Amino acid sequence: LPSLLCGSEGTLGIVTAARLRLVAAHQYTVTALVGFTDVEAAVDAAIHWRASLDVLDALEIVLGDGVALVASAFGYPLPFEQSCAAYVLVEASAHDDPMDRLGGVVADATNVVDVAVASDGTRRAALWRYREEHTAAIGTVGVPHKFDVTVPLALLATFLADVPGVVRSAVPDARTWLFGHVGDGNIHVNVTGVPASAPDLDDRVLAYVASLGGSISAEHGIGTAKAPWLHLCRSADEIETMRAIKRALDPDGVLNPNVLFG
Ligand code: LAC
Ligand code: ZN
Repeated sequence: LPSLLCGSEGTLGIVTAARLRLVAAHQYTVTALVGFTDVEAAVDAAIHWRASLDVLDALEIVLGDGVALVASAFGYPLPFEQSCAAYVLVEASAHDDPMDRLGGVVADATNVVDVAVASDGTRRAALWRYREEHTAAIGTVGVPHKFDVTVPLALLATFLADVPGVVRSAVPDARTWLFGHVGDGNIHVNVTGVPASAPDLDDRVLAYVASLGGSISAEHGIGTAKAPWLHLCRSADEIETMRAIKRALDPDGVLNPNVLFG
Protein backbone atom coordinates (compact mmCIF):
# COMPACT_ATOMS: atom_id res chain seq x y z
CA LEU A 1 0.00 0.00 0.00
CA PRO A 2 2.66 2.62 0.76
CA SER A 3 4.19 2.09 -2.69
CA LEU A 4 0.80 2.35 -4.33
CA LEU A 5 -0.07 5.56 -2.49
CA CYS A 6 3.30 7.28 -2.83
CA GLY A 7 3.12 9.59 -5.83
CA SER A 8 -0.59 8.99 -6.42
CA GLU A 9 -1.18 12.70 -5.76
CA GLY A 10 -4.09 12.19 -3.38
CA THR A 11 -6.14 10.32 -5.97
CA LEU A 12 -6.25 6.98 -4.15
CA GLY A 13 -6.55 7.77 -0.46
CA ILE A 14 -5.87 10.08 2.41
CA VAL A 15 -3.19 9.31 4.99
CA THR A 16 -4.83 9.76 8.40
CA ALA A 17 -2.09 8.32 10.59
CA ALA A 18 1.54 7.42 10.15
CA ARG A 19 4.13 5.81 12.39
CA LEU A 20 7.60 7.24 11.91
CA ARG A 21 10.94 5.88 12.95
CA LEU A 22 13.23 8.68 14.08
CA VAL A 23 16.97 8.60 13.60
CA ALA A 24 19.57 10.77 15.33
CA ALA A 25 20.44 13.92 13.40
CA HIS A 26 23.91 13.88 11.89
CA GLN A 27 26.35 16.02 13.82
CA TYR A 28 28.53 17.02 10.87
CA THR A 29 27.49 18.46 7.53
CA VAL A 30 29.88 19.54 4.82
CA THR A 31 28.86 21.32 1.62
CA ALA A 32 30.96 21.81 -1.50
CA LEU A 33 30.24 23.90 -4.57
CA VAL A 34 32.31 22.59 -7.46
CA GLY A 35 32.64 24.53 -10.70
CA PHE A 36 33.32 22.74 -14.00
CA THR A 37 34.53 23.82 -17.43
CA ASP A 38 31.70 21.88 -19.09
CA VAL A 39 28.31 20.39 -18.34
CA GLU A 40 29.34 16.87 -19.26
CA ALA A 41 32.12 16.80 -16.66
CA ALA A 42 29.69 18.12 -14.04
CA VAL A 43 27.17 15.39 -14.79
CA ASP A 44 29.88 12.71 -14.87
CA ALA A 45 31.16 13.84 -11.49
CA ALA A 46 27.66 13.84 -10.02
CA ILE A 47 27.05 10.30 -11.28
CA HIS A 48 30.34 9.18 -9.74
CA TRP A 49 29.66 10.88 -6.40
CA ARG A 50 26.19 9.42 -6.22
CA ALA A 51 27.64 5.93 -6.55
CA SER A 52 30.68 6.38 -4.34
CA LEU A 53 29.60 8.59 -1.42
CA ASP A 54 27.73 6.76 1.31
CA VAL A 55 27.27 10.00 3.27
CA LEU A 56 25.52 11.91 0.49
CA ASP A 57 22.76 14.31 1.51
CA ALA A 58 22.29 16.48 -1.57
CA LEU A 59 23.45 16.61 -5.17
CA GLU A 60 22.30 19.61 -7.20
CA ILE A 61 23.30 21.01 -10.57
CA VAL A 62 23.16 24.63 -11.71
CA LEU A 63 24.55 26.20 -14.87
CA GLY A 64 26.74 29.23 -15.46
CA ASP A 65 23.98 31.50 -16.75
CA GLY A 66 21.67 30.65 -13.84
CA VAL A 67 24.38 31.33 -11.25
CA ALA A 68 25.23 34.62 -12.97
CA LEU A 69 21.54 35.54 -12.87
CA VAL A 70 21.24 34.75 -9.14
CA ALA A 71 24.38 36.78 -8.45
CA SER A 72 23.21 39.83 -10.42
CA ALA A 73 19.59 39.64 -9.21
CA PHE A 74 20.56 39.63 -5.53
CA GLY A 75 23.93 41.40 -5.57
CA TYR A 76 26.08 38.40 -4.64
CA PRO A 77 29.63 37.93 -5.90
CA LEU A 78 30.12 35.12 -8.40
CA PRO A 79 31.25 32.00 -6.54
CA PHE A 80 34.65 31.90 -8.25
CA GLU A 81 36.91 34.34 -10.11
CA GLN A 82 36.66 32.24 -13.23
CA SER A 83 33.20 31.59 -14.63
CA CYS A 84 32.08 27.99 -15.02
CA ALA A 85 29.75 26.26 -17.46
CA ALA A 86 28.19 24.21 -14.66
CA TYR A 87 28.35 23.79 -10.93
CA VAL A 88 27.50 20.82 -8.72
CA LEU A 89 26.55 21.42 -5.13
CA VAL A 90 27.28 18.31 -3.10
CA GLU A 91 26.52 17.90 0.58
CA ALA A 92 27.52 15.10 2.91
CA SER A 93 26.56 14.52 6.53
CA ALA A 94 27.46 11.88 9.10
CA HIS A 95 27.98 11.22 12.81
CA ASP A 96 31.71 11.64 12.19
CA ASP A 97 33.25 14.37 10.04
CA PRO A 98 32.74 13.49 6.33
CA MET A 99 35.17 16.20 5.12
CA ASP A 100 37.89 13.73 4.11
CA ARG A 101 35.50 11.40 2.29
CA LEU A 102 33.90 14.29 0.41
CA GLY A 103 37.27 15.88 -0.32
CA GLY A 104 38.59 12.58 -1.63
CA VAL A 105 35.89 12.11 -4.25
CA VAL A 106 35.88 15.78 -5.25
CA ALA A 107 39.64 15.56 -5.85
CA ASP A 108 38.98 12.71 -8.31
CA ALA A 109 36.79 14.82 -10.59
CA THR A 110 38.11 16.14 -13.90
CA ASN A 111 37.63 19.51 -15.61
CA VAL A 112 37.18 21.25 -12.27
CA VAL A 113 37.68 25.02 -12.34
CA ASP A 114 37.40 25.72 -8.63
CA VAL A 115 35.91 24.38 -5.39
CA ALA A 116 34.41 26.09 -2.33
CA VAL A 117 33.88 24.03 0.82
CA ALA A 118 31.94 24.99 3.95
CA SER A 119 31.12 23.18 7.16
CA ASP A 120 29.44 25.88 9.25
CA GLY A 121 25.85 26.95 8.80
CA THR A 122 26.47 30.49 7.56
CA ARG A 123 29.00 29.57 4.90
CA ARG A 124 27.02 26.52 3.83
CA ALA A 125 23.95 28.73 3.36
CA ALA A 126 26.07 31.13 1.27
CA LEU A 127 26.86 28.24 -1.11
CA TRP A 128 23.28 26.97 -1.17
CA ARG A 129 21.88 30.34 -2.19
CA TYR A 130 23.36 29.97 -5.71
CA ARG A 131 21.08 26.97 -6.05
CA GLU A 132 18.10 27.82 -3.88
CA GLU A 133 17.54 31.30 -5.24
CA HIS A 134 17.19 30.19 -8.87
CA THR A 135 13.40 30.30 -8.80
CA ALA A 136 13.31 33.82 -7.33
CA ALA A 137 16.03 35.06 -9.72
CA ILE A 138 14.27 33.65 -12.78
CA GLY A 139 11.12 35.39 -11.57
CA THR A 140 12.90 38.73 -12.00
CA VAL A 141 13.29 37.98 -15.73
CA GLY A 142 9.65 37.09 -16.30
CA VAL A 143 6.96 34.62 -15.39
CA PRO A 144 8.46 31.29 -16.37
CA HIS A 145 6.78 28.41 -18.13
CA LYS A 146 7.92 25.45 -16.04
CA PHE A 147 8.70 21.82 -16.71
CA ASP A 148 9.68 19.33 -14.04
CA VAL A 149 11.12 16.27 -15.76
CA THR A 150 13.38 13.30 -15.17
CA VAL A 151 16.03 12.13 -17.61
CA PRO A 152 18.20 8.98 -17.33
CA LEU A 153 21.57 10.02 -15.89
CA ALA A 154 23.45 8.61 -18.87
CA LEU A 155 21.61 11.05 -21.18
CA LEU A 156 21.44 14.01 -18.83
CA ALA A 157 24.37 15.95 -20.33
CA THR A 158 22.86 15.53 -23.80
CA PHE A 159 19.52 16.74 -22.49
CA LEU A 160 21.01 19.82 -20.82
CA ALA A 161 22.88 20.71 -24.02
CA ASP A 162 19.95 20.15 -26.38
CA VAL A 163 16.77 21.14 -24.57
CA PRO A 164 17.28 24.91 -25.09
CA GLY A 165 17.25 24.23 -28.86
CA VAL A 166 14.09 22.16 -28.53
CA VAL A 167 12.49 25.08 -26.66
CA ARG A 168 13.58 27.56 -29.33
CA SER A 169 12.14 25.35 -32.06
CA ALA A 170 8.74 26.17 -30.52
CA VAL A 171 9.44 29.69 -29.20
CA PRO A 172 12.45 31.24 -31.00
CA ASP A 173 13.02 34.09 -28.53
CA ALA A 174 12.61 32.08 -25.34
CA ARG A 175 15.36 31.69 -22.75
CA THR A 176 15.81 28.38 -21.00
CA TRP A 177 17.06 28.09 -17.43
CA LEU A 178 18.10 24.65 -16.20
CA PHE A 179 18.77 23.46 -12.66
CA GLY A 180 17.81 20.60 -10.43
CA HIS A 181 18.34 17.50 -8.42
CA VAL A 182 21.03 15.84 -10.49
CA GLY A 183 21.22 12.75 -8.27
CA ASP A 184 17.68 11.88 -9.35
CA GLY A 185 18.06 13.08 -12.93
CA ASN A 186 15.28 15.54 -11.99
CA ILE A 187 15.72 18.79 -13.90
CA HIS A 188 13.63 21.94 -13.61
CA VAL A 189 13.33 23.47 -17.07
CA ASN A 190 12.16 27.07 -16.68
CA VAL A 191 11.45 29.03 -19.84
CA THR A 192 11.09 32.80 -19.92
CA GLY A 193 9.85 34.89 -22.83
CA VAL A 194 6.97 32.54 -23.67
CA PRO A 195 3.94 34.26 -25.23
CA ALA A 196 0.46 33.62 -23.84
CA SER A 197 -0.12 31.08 -26.56
CA ALA A 198 2.72 28.70 -27.41
CA PRO A 199 0.87 25.54 -28.37
CA ASP A 200 3.92 23.54 -29.49
CA LEU A 201 6.14 24.16 -26.50
CA ASP A 202 4.81 21.49 -24.13
CA ASP A 203 4.45 18.97 -26.95
CA ARG A 204 8.03 19.41 -28.13
CA VAL A 205 9.74 19.47 -24.76
CA LEU A 206 7.77 16.58 -23.28
CA ALA A 207 8.10 14.47 -26.46
CA TYR A 208 11.85 15.10 -26.36
CA VAL A 209 12.01 13.96 -22.73
CA ALA A 210 10.03 10.83 -23.58
CA SER A 211 12.30 10.12 -26.57
CA LEU A 212 15.26 9.94 -24.17
CA GLY A 213 13.43 7.41 -22.00
CA GLY A 214 12.77 10.06 -19.36
CA SER A 215 9.65 10.93 -17.42
CA ILE A 216 7.44 13.96 -18.09
CA SER A 217 6.92 14.33 -14.37
CA ALA A 218 9.27 14.34 -11.44
CA GLU A 219 8.89 15.62 -7.89
CA HIS A 220 5.95 17.91 -8.72
CA GLY A 221 3.83 15.18 -10.28
CA ILE A 222 1.37 14.99 -13.16
CA GLY A 223 -1.45 16.98 -11.58
CA THR A 224 -3.91 18.42 -14.05
CA ALA A 225 -1.41 20.33 -16.19
CA LYS A 226 0.43 17.28 -17.51
CA ALA A 227 -2.47 14.81 -17.67
CA PRO A 228 -2.83 15.25 -21.47
CA TRP A 229 0.76 14.00 -21.93
CA LEU A 230 0.61 11.01 -19.57
CA HIS A 231 0.45 8.71 -22.63
CA LEU A 232 4.00 9.73 -23.57
CA CYS A 233 5.43 7.66 -20.74
CA ARG A 234 2.61 5.27 -19.82
CA SER A 235 1.15 2.68 -22.19
CA ALA A 236 -2.60 2.37 -22.77
CA ASP A 237 -2.54 -0.83 -20.67
CA GLU A 238 -0.75 0.93 -17.83
CA ILE A 239 -3.21 3.83 -17.86
CA GLU A 240 -6.16 1.40 -17.90
CA THR A 241 -4.64 -0.43 -14.92
CA MET A 242 -4.23 2.88 -13.09
CA ARG A 243 -7.87 3.72 -13.83
CA ALA A 244 -9.00 0.31 -12.55
CA ILE A 245 -7.11 0.86 -9.27
CA LYS A 246 -8.64 4.34 -9.00
CA ARG A 247 -12.17 2.92 -9.53
CA ALA A 248 -11.56 0.21 -6.92
CA LEU A 249 -10.31 2.60 -4.22
CA ASP A 250 -12.40 5.66 -5.08
CA PRO A 251 -15.60 4.45 -6.77
CA ASP A 252 -17.32 7.83 -6.33
CA GLY A 253 -14.39 9.83 -7.74
CA VAL A 254 -14.16 12.17 -4.76
CA LEU A 255 -10.40 11.97 -4.17
CA ASN A 256 -8.57 14.85 -5.88
CA PRO A 257 -10.81 14.74 -8.93
CA ASN A 258 -9.38 15.79 -12.33
CA VAL A 259 -5.81 14.97 -11.32
CA LEU A 260 -3.92 12.39 -13.41
CA PHE A 261 -6.83 11.26 -15.59
CA GLY A 262 -8.27 14.67 -16.48
C1 LAC B 1 13.25 23.47 -6.55
C2 LAC B 1 11.77 23.41 -6.67
C3 LAC B 1 11.28 24.20 -7.84
O1 LAC B 1 13.88 22.45 -6.61
O2 LAC B 1 11.34 22.09 -6.78
O3 LAC B 1 13.78 24.58 -6.42
ZN1 ZN C 1 13.00 20.78 -7.12
